[in-house]
Amino acid sequence: MIYISPSLLAADFADLKNDIRRVEEAGVDYLHLDVMDGAFVPNMSFGAPVISCIRPHSKLVFDVHLMINDPIRYIEDFAKAGADIITIHEESCEEPQKALDLIRSKGIKPSISISPATPVEKLYPYLESVEMVLIMTVVPGFGGQSLIPETLDKVRALRRYAKEHDLHFDVEVDGGLKPDNIGLATEAGANVIVAGSAIFLAKDPAAVIDSMRKIADEHPYRA
Ligand code: DX5
Ligand code: ZN
Repeated sequence: MIYISPSLLAADFADLKNDIRRVEEAGVDYLHLDVMDGAFVPNMSFGAPVISCIRPHSKLVFDVHLMINDPIRYIEDFAKAGADIITIHEESCEEPQKALDLIRSKGIKPSISISPATPVEKLYPYLESVEMVLIMTVVPGFGGQSLIPETLDKVRALRRYAKEHDLHFDVEVDGGLKPDNIGLATEAGANVIVAGSAIFLAKDPAAVIDSMRKIADEHPYRA
């Protein structure tokens, strides 16, 4: 099963409620919420207060991606705001395990991410404790960049590792995904696809989503 998670970063921030409704009606599965602190990444976006304001207006799975230093400080806030999945970055904290355990203790799915410069092996100690892994396919900080194809080798490595160790987690890819390259990601083993500009900036988001699903179906992962 492929899940599509449009990144709110590409939405019209003056009209979030309607923009979210538009993609929800177009048939997405999750809503990807990029939280940036201007320190872990050189950009700022929004935090828990914005997420709690939009929570009553959407039934989508809230897929919160924390690009912030020391995320453990804010897990409680994002839990209260209505997150369903919380992703932390391996590079953002001294003890990722503590943050992942705290996320799970709140009844939220824990997930861990790495940026393109971080080797995939850094994730291995945490794979038993997560429901999802997010592989950044661009350098985090900004929407609208081009996917770095080499990052998909990490998706393949994760799938191999999961099989060898009988582990089960989703693999999300984030950055530069669109109909043209979704097949490369699904063939590598990704099953949660973030797409910000490709979906929010489309005139007809339903057509883009349909074509993404069709191409994903035609390019399945084969172990
Ligand atoms: C980048 C964010 C991404 C990004 C995706 O730091 O994590 O979620 O907004 O946007 P597009 O699909 O436009 O690359
Ligand atoms: Zn993201």
